[in-house]
Amino acid sequence: MLRKTAVPDEELEKGRQAALRLHDDISFRGLSYFIESYGCQMNDHDAEKLAGMLHACGYRRAEEKLKADLILFNTCCVREHAELRVFGNIGALKKRKEENPSLIVGVCGCMMQQKDVAEKLFKRFPFVDLVFGTHELHRFPALLESALNGERTLSVTQSDGEIAEGLPVERSGRFQTNVTIMYGCDNFCSYCIVPYVRGRERSRDSADILGEIKALAEAGFKEITLLGQNVNSYRGDGGQTSFARLLRMANSVEGIERLRFMTSHPKDLSMELIQTMADCKKVCNHIHLPVQSGSDRVLKRMNRGYTREKYLSLVKALRESVEGMELTTDIIVGFPGETEEDFLDTLSLVREAGFSAAYTFMYSPRNGTSAARMDEQVDKAVKKGRLERLNRLQAELLRQNNERYVGKSGTVLVEGCDRRTTPMAYGKLTSFKMVYFPGDETLEGQLKRVRITKTQSNSLLGELIEG
Ligand code: 5AD
Ligand code: SF4
Repeated sequence: MLRKTAVPDEELEKGRQAALRLHDDISFRGLSYFIESYGCQMNDHDAEKLAGMLHACGYRRAEEKLKADLILFNTCCVREHAELRVFGNIGALKKRKEENPSLIVGVCGCMMQQKDVAEKLFKRFPFVDLVFGTHELHRFPALLESALNGERTLSVTQSDGEIAEGLPVERSGRFQTNVTIMYGCDNFCSYCIVPYVRGRERSRDSADILGEIKALAEAGFKEITLLGQNVNSYRGDGGQTSFARLLRMANSVEGIERLRFMTSHPKDLSMELIQTMADCKKVCNHIHLPVQSGSDRVLKRMNRGYTREKYLSLVKALRESVEGMELTTDIIVGFPGETEEDFLDTLSLVREAGFSAAYTFMYSPRNGTSAARMDEQVDKAVKKGRLERLNRLQAELLRQNNERYVGKSGTVLVEGCDRRTTPMAYGKLTSFKMVYFPGDETLEGQLKRVRITKTQSNSLLGELIEG
């Protein structure tokens, strides 16, 4: 049976009504907000929704945190240190709140979806007005109204999570933006806390997604990234629509020039999807495909559901099917029980796969996950040493990878202009490579042909091809 996953209309309506009640007073008083967001693109996109709701409540964006009338921390709990950093940054606001008692301080995001952490924070910082989890995003205007009336609220519900359609979004990009297609994750990789905080997998209906993409195209957006913790397991419309099918539908939206998606799980990446990438002109020749480790033994203990051989066969199929295909990845070093030999397998996989970027992390135990309970936790100094070796190798491979672009041409979607020295326009190739070339703000939002002339450490230099 399919689980009911939508937030009921009455609930959404309560949020809209609260925003309407607040709007005139807040905007008359000229109140402003500042959101400090941590973590991944999913969290950044949640921050855009929180900002959208704040605009609906009459707030405007503050340029500086300490000048804002409302400060909201959108937290993340995927890796270590986040908790210490967030607690430190919130604690630092105590004095500011004493100077300005009408300041509203809120904390949300996936770290707050962990009930014990949310309770600890609420107790430790009495000046925090509202704390809410990721499943309560749509309730934000109502919670805010209570906070403005002097009530402190802690609101975290432990559920599988639902989908709230139609929340206002204040987008940070003008030409490139993200559209969430699914929420949650069912994979339970043994190191990962996401399934516990983001809930079960639930997919938006394709009509809602396509409606959003069409509206974005009309508003001038050219590039869309379809977001989800594991987009390959998207099953929309009561399970009938696969991710490959959705991608084909998005490919036909007029006005959209480029499509990207993330994150892909190797165990769910189908040949149908690879064929779709090859067939659809707007789908970019880049995929983010986290491998996590190059050792079969470690992959098994991580509960990843694929082998090194299977991963490398996907890389081969992608490269054979899509011209100029670039891959980026995530890698964890120092997973419990990882030996030097396992780590050497990771280094050799990195060499074989030829990633254009690798986001590398030291394993950190997350409360409640099965890997945190495993024996043989790896020593911190060993993890650090491995991370450095891996990063050194990847930097060298990146240099070689970038060299291959010199003398070639490609199309850049211009995102902005850097005026620190001579004006340099910048934007990405379809392969996700960042390119800088002489040009100014008038090029923003345009697709421009450039020839690559030189490489820099993390980007390419080019020149405009006229005409
Ligand atoms: N320790 C280290 N890295 C982690 N990631 C997820 N959980 C952990 C953890 N406990 C990394 C994975 C994932 C990325 C988003 O964060 O590489 O792909
Ligand atoms: Fe975490 Fe694995 Fe789900 Fe990715 S696929 S969010 S790493 S559990």
